[in-house]
Amino acid sequence: MAKRVVGIGGTLRSGSSSELLVRAVLAACARRGAETRMFDGPALAALPHFNAESPERNDAERALVEAVRAADAIVIGSPGYHGGVSGLVKNAIDLLEDIRGDARPYFDGRPVGLIVSAAGWQAGGVTLAALRGIVHAMRGWPTPAGIAINSVEQKPFAANGSVADAGVAAQIELQAAHLMAFALETAA
Ligand SMILES: Cc1cc2nc3c(=O)[nH]c(=O)nc-3n(C[C@H](O)[C@H](O)[C@H](O)COP(=O)(O)O)c2cc1C
Repeated sequence: MAKRVVGIGGTLRSGSSSELLVRAVLAACARRGAETRMFDGPALAALPHFNAESPERNDAERALVEAVRAADAIVIGSPGYHGGVSGLVKNAIDLLEDIRGDARPYFDGRPVGLIVSAAGWQAGGVTLAALRGIVHAMRGWPTPAGIAINSVEQKPFAANGSVADAGVAAQIELQAAHLMAFALETAA
């Protein structure tokens, strides 16, 4: 059966670089045989603020929770906002509290590719480290290859949104290779 890879990330900015990078990793996983599903900025904006005390969930919340529950690998992409993960992306991650009680809670046993786009190297580095901390807390396995781009110094995209920069493309291929190798290795 094809491995299922779920992407979560991006901003509400049109042409969001963090979204394009997550989509690029998903495409690289698809070339390796994966089925992919993307939850981009608008999809994440359809999630209400997570409320642990309310059992009510809308269709957007259910779709994300079920996709992560069934995923073999996950890709998370955030902009660096004020030195950290954006609220939009963190709210989506917090919703995964709904799978805490599963036999396979949170990201348990699965590889998670992490991506940050920030206007400076400092925010890129600290936000990537913060995402790794989150994934460890949620029992996932951050891939060795994380990706941080500096959106001021790097313009890695072609006009159609594909990745045109050879260095960034190589990082994307490496992260996809790590995700798929881990997912295949741990297949039941
Ligand atoms: C609210 C806000 C806060 C930001 N904070 C930082 C920051 O602390 N450090 C930084 O390097 N860039 C910061 N940026 C710039 C974004 O990280 C950068 O433009 C990023 O590439 C945007 O990602 P996107 O293309 O996916 O929208 C901030 C941008 C916004 C809108």
